[in-house]
Amino acid sequence: MKLESYQTIVNGQLQHDGLSYQYLAETYGTPLYIFDETTFVQRVKDYKEALSNPYFETEVLFASKALLTKAMGQLVAQLGIGQDVVSAGEIYTAVASGVNPSKLYFHGNNKLNDELLYAIEQGVGTIVLDNRSEASRLNKLLLDLGKKQRVLLRLNPGVEAHTHEYIKTAHNDSKFGESVFDPAIEDVIQTINNYPTLDLAGFHCHIGSQVFEEQSFLDSATEMIEFSKKMEDNLNLKVKEINFGGGFGVYYTAEDKPFDIKAFLPKFIQHVHETSQKLSLTLEKVTIEPGRALVNQSGSTLYRVGDLKTTTSGKNYLFVDGGMTDNIRPALYQAKYEALITNKADEVADTVYTIAGKACESGDKIINDYPLPEAETGDLLLVNGTGAYNYTMSSHYNRIPKPAMIHVLNGKSRLTVKRETFADMMRNEI
Ligand SMILES: Cc1ncc(COP(=O)(O)O)c(C=O)c1O
Repeated sequence: MKLESYQTIVNGQLQHDGLSYQYLAETYGTPLYIFDETTFVQRVKDYKEALSNPYFETEVLFASKALLTKAMGQLVAQLGIGQDVVSAGEIYTAVASGVNPSKLYFHGNNKLNDELLYAIEQGVGTIVLDNRSEASRLNKLLLDLGKKQRVLLRLNPGVEAHTHEYIKTAHNDSKFGESVFDPAIEDVIQTINNYPTLDLAGFHCHIGSQVFEEQSFLDSATEMIEFSKKMEDNLNLKVKEINFGGGFGVYYTAEDKPFDIKAFLPKFIQHVHETSQKLSLTLEKVTIEPGRALVNQSGSTLYRVGDLKTTTSGKNYLFVDGGMTDNIRPALYQAKYEALITNKADEVADTVYTIAGKACESGDKIINDYPLPEAETGDLLLVNGTGAYNYTMSSHYNRIPKPAMIHVLNGKSRLTVKRETFADMMRNEI
C-alpha cells in the first residue's frame, strides 16, 4: 500500500501522525473511519492558490456529497470556501455546522418543492437549475414569496469523461442538465432569463468523476465559453459565472495517476482567460467543485481481521468486521483499493487474500486477490483512500451499525462521529 505523508512505520507498526493504529483501535473500536485534517486543509489551500489569478474571481466549492459531517462542515466554514450541496439534508448539515448559506450552491436533478423552499428560506446563495421544468417551479415558488434568487443553469457541453477516456458527443442521455445541442436550448435559456424572480448569473457543467485526462477539462471549458458567448450574442443575457464542476482524479491504486492540481489549474485558468478574451466574454467569476480530490487522501478505514478461510479451489478469504456497509464502492462499481496489516507493516506480503466484508452478499469484497503478509485473526487491516464516498454512501444493510469517525490533527485524535448503536438504527421505527 502506498503510504500517505501522515503514515510512518515504527518498529513494524504503522502509525498515523505518531498515533499507532493499535492505540486507535483500542480507543475507538473498529471499523473506524480515520480522517487527516492537515492533509485536507493543505489540499484546500493548494486548490485556492492554484486558482488565484488577476483576471476573475475564483472560488473552490467543496462537493460535500463526498464527505459531509458536522466536523467537515465546521472545517469548510473555518476555511471560508463554498460548498456544493444536493439535498435539503446537506443544506441542513452545512448550515447547522456554521457554513455561510450564501456560499452554498444547491444542485440536484429533482429538487423537491419543499427543498427549494427550504433553500430559499435558509438563504442559499446559488441554486443550480437542472432543467426547464425546475426553473418554472422555482419561479412560481419565488413569485408567491415575492423573492428573487441567484441561479446557474446546468449544461451538458457534449464532453463526457470518466477515468482516462473521454468522448465528445452531441447525443446526451444524462439525467443531469440541459444539452447545449438541444434545438430548444435558446428558448429554454431565454425563458429562464425572462423569469422576473430568477437572476441567471451563468452556467454550470460537470463532465464526470475520477477524470485523469487534462484535455477533457480544457475541451469542456472551450465548449462552455463558446456557448456562453453565443447566448450573450443571441439573447439579452450577461454570463457572469461559469462553474466547471469537479471530477479531478485521485490515487486509489498504482493504476491511477492523480491529478497534479498545482500544475494543471493555472494552465486551466489561463485557458479560460484566453478563450473568453478571444471571444470578448467577460467572466466575473469562475468556480470549481471538487469532492473526492479534497478528501479522499485524508481518509482511511481501520478494520479488525476476523476469520480466515481457504476455499477448495485455493482462494484465501480474509474477513473484516465491516465491508460494503461502510464502503459500497467496490460492489457498486468495481472500485479498487490498497491495504496493509498495520501490525505487520514491515513484513513481506507473500500471501494473496481476497478481503471480504461480513454482509450477506457475495459481492461484499473490499479487495480481490491482494498480497499481504500471512494474516491472523485479530490483526488490524487498514484500507487507504476511503475519505470520499464511503461514509456518505454507508448503509444499515444487515442491521450493521455505521462505524465511528475520528479526525487526526497534530498528533491528536478526536471523535467526530459516534459509533452507531442498535437503538440508533431503531430510532424511527414504531
Ligand atoms: C455536480 C457535481 N459537482 C461535483 C461533483 C464532485 O465530483 P468529484 O467528487 O469527482 O470531484 C459531482 C459528483 O458527482 C457532481 O455531480
